[in-house]
Amino acid sequence: MQTKIDIILVLDFGGQYCHLISRRVREQNVYSEIVPHDISPEEVKALNEKFNVKGLILSGGPSSVYGENTPKLNPGILEGNVPILGLCYGHQILVQLTEGKVESSNCKEYGIAYVTVDNPVGVLEGLSKKEKVWMSHGDTVCSLPSDFEALAHTNNCPVAAFRHKHKPIYGLQWHPEVIHTENGNRMLHNFIFNVCRCEANWQMENLVEKMVQELKTEVGEGKAIIGLSGGIDSSVSTALAAKALNEKLTAVYVDHGFMREGETEAIRETFSKFKINFIVVQAQKRFIKKLEGVTEPECKRKIIGEEFIRVFEEEAIKSGAQYLIQGTIYPDIIESGFSKNSDNIKSHHNVGGLPEKIEFKKILEPLRELYKDEVRKVAKMLDLPNELVNRQPFPGPGLAVRIIGLLTEEKIRIVKRSDKIVREEIEGAGLAESLWQYFAVVTDTKATGVKGDTRAYGYVVAVRAMESREAMTASFAKIPYDVLEKISTRITNEIPEVTHVVYDITHKPPATIEWE
Ligand code: XMP
Repeated sequence: MQTKIDIILVLDFGGQYCHLISRRVREQNVYSEIVPHDISPEEVKALNEKFNVKGLILSGGPSSVYGENTPKLNPGILEGNVPILGLCYGHQILVQLTEGKVESSNCKEYGIAYVTVDNPVGVLEGLSKKEKVWMSHGDTVCSLPSDFEALAHTNNCPVAAFRHKHKPIYGLQWHPEVIHTENGNRMLHNFIFNVCRCEANWQMENLVEKMVQELKTEVGEGKAIIGLSGGIDSSVSTALAAKALNEKLTAVYVDHGFMREGETEAIRETFSKFKINFIVVQAQKRFIKKLEGVTEPECKRKIIGEEFIRVFEEEAIKSGAQYLIQGTIYPDIIESGFSKNSDNIKSHHNVGGLPEKIEFKKILEPLRELYKDEVRKVAKMLDLPNELVNRQPFPGPGLAVRIIGLLTEEKIRIVKRSDKIVREEIEGAGLAESLWQYFAVVTDTKATGVKGDTRAYGYVVAVRAMESREAMTASFAKIPYDVLEKISTRITNEIPEVTHVVYDITHKPPATIEWE
C-alpha cells in the first residue's frame, strides 16, 4: 500500500506571491498545493483521505480586511487542530476573525523593513533581534485578543508577528516567501518542520510522474494537440505530453510572423526527432490582418490569443483531436488575474487572451502549478537537450508585444534585426547564462539623428536585459558599457531606420519585463 505524503495547503487570498509560498514549501521537499481561500473544514478533511494535511498557510492579498466583498476565511478552520500560519492579509484576517483590531495605517510599509523580534519562538525560533523582511501592507494589526501574544514589531506596526497562546496559530505581517526577506526560508522551515512536524518526503520526480499520469488519464483513448511556441514552457509541455501520449499527440507550431529570426528552423530541427506528429502552420497573413490598426496592448494580446485558438481548432479537426494542451505556467495565470482575488496585470496569450467560446472538450495545462525555474528542472529530468533547457523565455504573442503602437512591416523588420543583434552581442560576451531575458523593443517614438553628415529621423529602439528567478520580480541587468556600446553601434549602423538606442533601467515592479 502506498503511504500518504504530508501536505501543506496554501489558502489563496489573491496575493501576487501566493504561489511562491507553495513553491518555497516544495523546495523544502514537502508537498504543497494551492486551495481556495474559503475552503471548509469538511473539504480539508476530504483532502486528508489522500494526503496528511499537516498545516495551512493563509496567503497575502490585495484587499483590505475592511473592504466590501473581501475574501474571508471559513471560521470553522480555526476550530480544528491543524497548524495555521497567516501571512500579510492572512495575518490580519486571523486577528479580525478572532476579534482583535486591524486598522488602516497612515504609515504604509512597502518594500524592505526591519522588524524587532521580541520573542524568538515557534516560527521565529533562532532568528536575530533585528530581521530584514519584505513588507507590503496598508492595514496594520493594532491589538490582539487575549488568547494571542505579539512576537515582533516595527516602528509603524506594533504587532508584526504573533502567536496563539494555546494553539499552533501564527501570523507574520511580512512575506517570508519573497527572497528579499533574508531569513524567509528559515521562518517557513520552522513552521513546516517544528510547528507542523512534516516529513521531507516529496521530490520533484513525483510531480513529473503525476503530470504524465494525469495527461494519460484525461486524454484516455482520445487525441490531443499542443501549441508549441518554442519557448521553454511549451517545449517542456510537449516533451511531457509526448511521454504520456506518443502518436496520439500532434504538436502545432504556429508561425504568426512575430517569431525571432531562425526560430522556425530551430524548432523544426528539435521536434522532428520526437515520436509525435509535428506540423508547422504558416499563419503570418491572417494574424497581421487581424491586428491591422490595433495599438492597445491588451487588445493585441486578446486578438493573438483568439487567433491562436482558431488555428488550433482547425488543426484539431484535421488531426481528430478533442483536447488542447498548453504550456501555461503559474505566473501566466496570476498575472492574467485568474486567481479569484488577484488583479489583472496583463493577459498572457494562453490565459487571459483566450476567447470565451472554445471548440475543445478540455484545455489541459500540465505545468500550471510551476514557476519557470521548476520547469527547467523538469526539462532536465526529461533529458531535453541543453539548448532547449537554457532557452530564454519567449512570450506567446512573440515580437508583437515588443513593437509599441501599430504593427507595421517596417517595425517588424526592425525588431527582428535588433533582437538578433542583442542576442548575438549578449551571447558573444558570455552574459547569457546570468540573464533571465535580453531583447529589443521598437518604440513608437521617432527622434532626430545625424548619419553621414545628413539629418536622419528614425526610430528609438530600447534594449532590455533582466535578471530574475521566477519572473514575478526582476532587476535590470548591469550590462557592461562596452557591450551596450557594441549593441547600440551595430543597431544604428545595420538598421538605417534607427537613430537612437536606449537601455531600459527599470526593475519589475514597477515595470513588467515585456513592454506590452
Ligand atoms: P511580464 O512582462 O508580465 O513577463 O513581466 C513575465 C514573463 O512572462 C513572459 N510573457 C509571456 N509568456 N505568454 C507567454 O507564454 C504571454 O502572453 C506572455 N507575456 C509575457 C515574459 O517574456 C516574461 O518572461
